[in-house]
This record gives sequence, structure tokens and C-alpha cells, in this order.
Amino acid sequence: MTILMAIESSCDETACAVVKDGCEILSSIVSSQINVHTLYGGVVPEVASRIHVENISTVVCEALQQAKVTMADIDAIAYTQGPGLIGSLHVGVQAAKAIAWAYHKPLVPVNHMTGHIYANRFVTELQWPLMALVISGGHTELVWMENDWDFKVIGTTRDDAIGEAYDKVARVLGLGYPGGPKIDKIAKEGKPHYTLPTPKTASPYDFSFSGLKTAVLQMIQREEKKGETVNVADAAYCFQETALQSMVKKTMAAVDEYRPAMLVLAGGVAANSRLRVLMEEAMKEYPEVKLVIPPLSCCTDNAAMIGAAGYVAYKHGLFGGFDAAADPALLMPGEE
Ligand code: KG4
Ligand code: ZN
Repeated sequence: MTILMAIESSCDETACAVVKDGCEILSSIVSSQINVHTLYGGVVPEVASRIHVENISTVVCEALQQAKVTMADIDAIAYTQGPGLIGSLHVGVQAAKAIAWAYHKPLVPVNHMTGHIYANRFVTELQWPLMALVISGGHTELVWMENDWDFKVIGTTRDDAIGEAYDKVARVLGLGYPGGPKIDKIAKEGKPHYTLPTPKTASPYDFSFSGLKTAVLQMIQREEKKGETVNVADAAYCFQETALQSMVKKTMAAVDEYRPAMLVLAGGVAANSRLRVLMEEAMKEYPEVKLVIPPLSCCTDNAAMIGAAGYVAYKHGLFGGFDAAADPALLMPGEE
């Protein structure tokens, strides 16, 4: 039995979890800063770092208490090394190092994106080869995994990440931050009244959302010039349908070409209710490929997922030293 403490602070969630054997959550504490950042319409990095400093100790103590373990039961400390906001990451990295030093525990640095992928380990045993669609506020990637802990990014965004596009479109529609859940909700009442351009990229597995975001903005400006206002639900609906249909189509092209045993969704945007429906529908054509979608609580940032990925890294002996630093642009393992 291996028990890891995991710490995550890459953006605006201060989180600590205790995870057994990479697949059982003994505790998962997430302290969200959304209420504060909503006041500014998005994450303010300096504010995020300061709130992480205020909350990290409480979150760590609560994770131990809820898991009903003491530091004597912990085998290693896994932490998010990157990618993310430098100041935010730094707080988690320093907390992990301090705890590891005080209690003589090994350190396991984890790439945040691998955490999103391995969050699916809380749903089921992973099967290889595996295709992961990693969709968050900072990333939109198709990751091909021939084997456990073997990552190859076959597609990425040429400009904005999908979550970023959701957040920016929500802002221009006056829906506030974070935009993903707001658009998800209001789009349910929308109708296909507007036509938006389908994103185009040279490579079949790459994504692009910046043009679509600009098209929504121009549509709003056009309506305003006519003295009219855009229907927010309809605009949200049309943006979401265009973005998701394009993303699902590219993912299906990758599934068709690579023929994985499993397709997993990962990251905050995997919480989207419409995406779940579209994916399930599209995957009916590939009954031999198992579709796995993490539970809502494991889609957005949390530390349990860092414990899940950290367990695999731990088993591979991928320990870090006390000289390891936060890396805001950390690449996936094996990426150059
Ligand atoms: O993975 P995550 O929590 O943080 C990053 O690693 O970036 O993802 C956050 C992103 C935000 O852009 C948020 O708007 C988006 O995930 N998101 C959603 C939904 N819930 C969160 N996007 C679409 N639909 C949702 N229901
Ligand atoms: Zn994330």
C-alpha cells in the first residue's frame, strides 16, 4: 500500500489530498478563490499567490484530518511543479518541500496536465493505448499514450485554449468569471440563430479558438451598431456548438487513425454537459473504444489528481530534489 500526500496550487485553487495507491481518494480538500477573482473578471496572479499563502497550511491539515492519517502514514509528497502561474505554483512547491524536509519524505514533482489525465484513474483502471483530450483554461491537447506514463502530444491549440475562449466569450457576453460553467448553463436555453465560422487549422489534430472568439465579439459589435443587443443565450449556444463540434470532430479523426483502447477526457472543460453528450454520441461509432469522463469534482483543478499521477511517477522512481523549482511552462514528460 502506498499513501501519497498531494499538493496543487497552479492557478486559483489551493488543494491538498491524500490518495491511496493512486486510485482511492482518502481526502481531497479544495479551497477555491473564485469568489475573489470574480470581482476582477478573471484570475489576478498576485492576488492568487497571496491567497494560496494564507490557505495552504489549513488545507494540508484538513486533508490529513479527513483522511484520518498522520504524517507517519504518508510515503511521499507529490506536488504540482507546473505548468501554471509562477507565484501560485511557488507556494505549493515550497509547502511540499518544507513538509518533505520536516518529515523526511521523498518528493514527487508532477506535471499538472498528467494529473488531469490520471484523474480518470478514479473512475476506472486505465487501458493502453490511450488517447486523452486534455481541455482546460490553459491547454487544449490530444495526448497519445502507448503505455503507462508515455506521453506524446499529437495536437495542440495554435492560439487560445478552449477554456480560455469560454472565459473570454463569457466576459464579452457579460456573464462573468469563470465563463465555462456560465456558458454551459445559459446555452441550454439558446437557439441556433447565429452563424459563426468553423475553426480551421493546417494540421488535422491542432485546434484554434481565437478566430471564433473574435467572431463572437464582432457579432456583438454589429448588433450594437444596428442599435440592437445580441441574444446572450443564442450567442452562447452558437459559440459552444461551433467550438465543441469542431473539437469533437478532430478528436474522432484521431480516434479513427490511432484506434486507442480508451478515450479519456481531462481538464476543467471536460465538466461541460454538452461536450459529454456530443462525445457519447460520436463514440457510438467506435464501440470497441471505451470512453471515460472523470466525475465533475475531478475535472476542475484538485490535488487528488496530482496524487493519482504522482503515484505512477513514484512507482517509476521519478523523485525530485530540494533544488527543484516551479516551472510555469513545464512540458509533458518526454516532450521537447
Ligand atoms: O482544469 P481547470 O480547472 O484549470 C486549468 O488547468 O486551467 O480548467 C479551468 C477551465 C476554465 O476556463 C473554465 O471556464 C473551464 O475550465 N470550465 C468549463 C466548465 N467548467 C469549467 N468550461 C466549459 N464548461 C464547463 N462546465
Ligand atoms: Zn487544470
